[in-house]
Amino acid sequence: MARGLDGMVVLITGASSGIGEATARLVAKQDGLPVLSARRADQLEALAQELPGALAVPADVRDPEQVRQLVETTLEHHGRVDVLINNAGQGLHLPLEQVSLEDLVAITQLNFYAPLLAMQAVLPAMRSQGGGKIVNVSSGTSRMVLPGVGAYAATKSALNMLSLVAKEELAPEGIIVSLVYPSITSTEFHDKLRAGSVPSGAAGLTPHSPEYVAMAILRALHTGEAEVIIPHGPERHEEIELAGP
Ligand SMILES: NC(=O)c1ccc[n+]([C@@H]2O[C@H](COP(=O)([O-])OP(=O)(O)OC[C@H]3O[C@@H](n4cnc5c(N)ncnc54)[C@H](OP(=O)(O)O)[C@@H]3O)[C@@H](O)[C@H]2O)c1
Repeated sequence: MARGLDGMVVLITGASSGIGEATARLVAKQDGLPVLSARRADQLEALAQELPGALAVPADVRDPEQVRQLVETTLEHHGRVDVLINNAGQGLHLPLEQVSLEDLVAITQLNFYAPLLAMQAVLPAMRSQGGGKIVNVSSGTSRMVLPGVGAYAATKSALNMLSLVAKEELAPEGIIVSLVYPSITSTEFHDKLRAGSVPSGAAGLTPHSPEYVAMAILRALHTGEAEVIIPHGPERHEEIELAGP
């Protein structure tokens, strides 16, 4: 990918592992300044040591006050926030009959409320800077009818609509909102489901690497496309890198 980030401040949630970590590495490679957030402070600190210009800001984004603090700390440190990548998320893979309200509330807080709160928290700064970019990480499961993942897919479907509406609401102010839909990806996600297990239908699929998904996130950031859908199947680096304006 030829384009660079040239000192842009990029706040990434869920940066302690998987897609978020790979995205942080790519941001640093493109000369952006990653702000790394997640709950595991040790992981964030270790990554921040490796990446030039990186800042670790631990937060549990299910807590609205911690989301507010995360953005405030970013602004105190850098004086601006150019990009927000809402990536933290968790699965809940059970047939609907078995989904508990407690689990559903927990993943809704993480997958849906937290991205909304983070968007709300960065808007005043982005507005006063004259613009900004937001990338929300959804899931391909929200684009298909897949038994066993309905509750998780529903939280991501809610995020999709929020993002598409935000794109329209914020475009006049130069704030560009995009969605990325990863397919199955080789990360800790599948071992850290809130409840349930990966549906058997996923067994035949070859997972993508988190680096591949990170490329799609960076593409969304650079092109401002409303939606970047990552299809199942072999990784097609050139398509992900070069498609779009
Ligand atoms: N892997 C897949 O197959 C796949 C497919 C489609 C979409 N996705 C989406 O991709 C995104 C990234 O997931 P991943 O695959 O990279 O999985 P992952 O390795 O498990 O990463 C999830 C990240 O979210 C963070 N997180 C979890 N709960 C949090 C909380 N309460 N507050 C703050 N951070 C929290 C985790 O860090 P801490 O534990 O340190 O807080 C971790 O950094 C998620 O939104 C997921 O829904 C994944």
